[in-house]
Order: sequence, then structure tokens, then C-alpha cells
Amino acid sequence: MKITVVGAGHVGLVTAACLAAIGHKVAALDVDEERISALREGVTPFFEPHLDALLAATRRSEPIDFTSDPARALSGSQLAFLCVPTPNDERGDVDLRAVVAAAGSVAAHADPWTVVVNRSTAPVGTAAHLRSIIEAGRGSALSVAVNPEFLAQGSAVRDFLFPDRVVIGAWDRRAADCVRRAYQPILEGRVPAIDGETLGPPSTAPIPVVVTEPPTAELVKYASNAFLAMKISFINEMSMIADELGGDVTQVASAVGLDHRIGPHFLRAGIGWGGSCFPKDIQALRGMAASSGVNARLLRAANEVNQEQHRWVSRKLQGHFGALPGRRVALLGLTFKPDTDDLRSSPAVEIAAGLAREQVHVRAFDPVVRSVPADVAHFIDLAPDPASAARDADAVILATEWPQFRQLDLGALGDVMRERLFLDGRNFLEPEQVRAAGFQYVGVGR
Ligand code: UGA
Repeated sequence: MKITVVGAGHVGLVTAACLAAIGHKVAALDVDEERISALREGVTPFFEPHLDALLAATRRSEPIDFTSDPARALSGSQLAFLCVPTPNDERGDVDLRAVVAAAGSVAAHADPWTVVVNRSTAPVGTAAHLRSIIEAGRGSALSVAVNPEFLAQGSAVRDFLFPDRVVIGAWDRRAADCVRRAYQPILEGRVPAIDGETLGPPSTAPIPVVVTEPPTAELVKYASNAFLAMKISFINEMSMIADELGGDVTQVASAVGLDHRIGPHFLRAGIGWGGSCFPKDIQALRGMAASSGVNARLLRAANEVNQEQHRWVSRKLQGHFGALPGRRVALLGLTFKPDTDDLRSSPAVEIAAGLAREQVHVRAFDPVVRSVPADVAHFIDLAPDPASAARDADAVILATEWPQFRQLDLGALGDVMRERLFLDGRNFLEPEQVRAAGFQYVGVGR
């Protein structure tokens, strides 16, 4: 099939690369000409495991046509996936300008049979809105569908090629079938290895394809993210209880997660959730609920627990040191999770901002972050390695569970510090190992 992917950001580029890798002819359209020329030269604009290798492989077999010319991108396409940003505006409402512009450009250039598929996370009712914009723009209708993405940063390529499910929201059968055909190789387990490595499990059970009307598919996306965030907030609340009553929340989570009705995932207690999706999507879903008169109590609670959890570090530091002004800390990890270079709504950055307000000096090291945005630079001093971050510090805070932090030379780290307090904000290290290096170890609810 010829497929156009509109938007060469995280979701768009992973979608384009994976669709090309399973044999489709793909055009990737973006208004950012600089990004398009970089992609043509083989430069990936962000870090995502396996994406570089996948793009290199497609350059050899089925090259993606990176272009900023919509007529060229859309000519002859059976499907146009819209994968553009839908950030929240300052009032917390979803800003649909990019997705409306993308739909407008598709309306102007698509063939009459092209199915327009929105993959950008957008409020319930967006597909219907896009359908009317397209119809008004071209004077005739195009089929519109919704295909929410469930791509987590750091595992986005694997998540695309080995999905738990494919959700398709469509009003007509032809559109649903057309989207399903795009995924057919994946549904049949015909997924290429990347650099000789198979990313997913050998396929056993068939991958469910859930076909609904568009509003339901739009809600599935928000419900999935909200449930995951709520699950984390739940275990974080348990960690606060464990902290007070005694008990180890990591063991509680393992035991609770063995119940197949609960499952083991997203039960890692820590300094709270962040990233470009959960905070934004939960705010948007709360807004949608409120505007329709629904009081979404669980969503509000999940958010409140998360805010409270961001204060875990400062609570522990205060408990240990009393007054904080003049203290120095080493922050290990800045990204909102490992295997990404994304700092958006990162708990580590929020924590650093909070500590700076309490006049704590923060030196940070992150394995992939080489510079921080200007609005962050005034409260985070970036260090080139963990030992430089720890020099003269009173405490180390592990804020992102980068695997390389398991190899830290804790003894050497402690040697350059003023005091040896280790706050493990991700319950990532073995407490005994940290204590053996002379640190006082504090984990989250353990
Ligand atoms: C999330 C969803 O997991 C994806 O399915 C979805 O497609 C994506 O949002 C999106 O809407 O585009 P992502 O934001 O990349 O993906 O990251 P997650 O792996 O979900 O982690 C989110 C946050 O939760 C991170 O800060 C992480 O550290 C935290 N987390 C995760 C925990 O604190 N504990 C856990 O057990 C799991």
C-alpha cells in the first residue's frame, strides 16, 4: 500500500519507519523543512532505540519519501495517518491547530479514495470535527478513521511491531478494512528483525483488532493512559502508607501483581509519573469530563497523589537535614524515564525546580542529556559525569532508572561527597549494596 504519514515527530517517524519496514511504500510529510532535509540525510531528530537502525534498513530496501510537499506525499495514497502534536494550551484545553492544519492539507491534496486516519491523541469528537473540515475544504467527503497509538518512548518501535492490540475507530467498513490491511503483516507475525535482533515475543496468540466507532476509539486512548497513571499513583500511595506503617512496597507490588486480575506492570513506586503524555492526557480527560458535567474524582486523585510524590525528595531531605538552604545535591537522571532524551514534564526536573526554590544547589548528570533548555538551566547545573555531580554534595538522588546507574562506583562517589545520603527515587538499586558503600539508603516505601 502507499501510505502517507503526516508529521515526522516521535509517533509519526516511528509509524513511518515501521510501516516501511513491513513493506509499505511510505511518504513522510512534515512542514518543518529542516527536519525533512535532516531525515533525508539520515539524521534522526531524537533518540529512540532501534529507530536509527530501522530507518537505515528502510533506506536500503523501501526508502521513505521524506517531503514537505503535500501534493507529492499524498498522491496515490490509500491511507493518510495524522501524527501531529496535540499539546494542551495554557488553559489546559487541547490545542488542535496542528491536527486541523494537517487535515486541511490532506483535504486539499488527497485522492477521493484516501482514508484519513487520526493517530494524534485528541478529544472525543475530533474525528467528527476533522470529517466536517475536510468536507468543507474539498466540497466532498473523505473517509475518516481513528487509530490511537500506544507507543511508549523508549520501546516505541517494539510497541508498534508487537502491539497488544490494534484499535480502529471508523464509521464505514471500507475505512476500517483499509487501516487493518496496513497492519496485516504485523497481525500475521511477519515482522522483520532489526540488526539481526527480533524485538518481540514469538507470536502465539493472535493480536486482537478492536473496531469501534471513532468516539469510542478516541476514548480508548485516554482511558488507557489514565488507567496506567492511576495504577502508578495507587502504588505510590501504597508506598506512602508503607513508609509510615513499615513494609516494603516493592515486595507488596510483586505479590499484588501476581494476581492475574491486577498484573505486574506499572506498579513501580517512585517519584511519580511524567513525560509528554500522562500529565497532558489526564488534564485533557479531566477537562472533557468537567465540560460534560462529570466529576472525575479518580483522575483528580491520581493527579494529586502524583504531585505529592514529586515532593518525596524534599520531604526526605528535610527529614534528614532539617533546614535545606545551602545544601547541595547530586541528581542522577533528568529524563522522565530511561531510553529517551525527553525532558518534558520530567519528575526529575520538577524536583530540581522545587529544591532550587528551597535554596538547594542541584548538580545533575544524565547519560544522554548534554544541555538543558534555558528555562531549566538557571536551576540545574549540568555535570559531565556522576562523580562531578556528587562533588561536595550532601545527598545523591537517583531520579531516572538508567541501567548504567547500576554500574556506579558508589565508593568513589561517596569519597567526594560531604555526606553520604542516597535517595533512590526509583527503588532501582539494591539497598544492601548502597549501604555497603557507606551510604544511608532511603528508597520509596521500602
Ligand atoms: C505512555 C504510554 O505508556 C503509552 O502507551 C502511550 O502510547 C504514550 O504514553 C502516549 O500517549 O503517547 P510514555 O509517556 O512514553 O508512554 O511513558 P511510560 O512508559 O508510560 O511512563 C510514563 C511515566 O510513568 C514515566 O515518568 C515513568 O517513569 C512512570 N512510571 C511508569 C512509573 O513511575 N512507574 C511505573 O511502574 C511505570
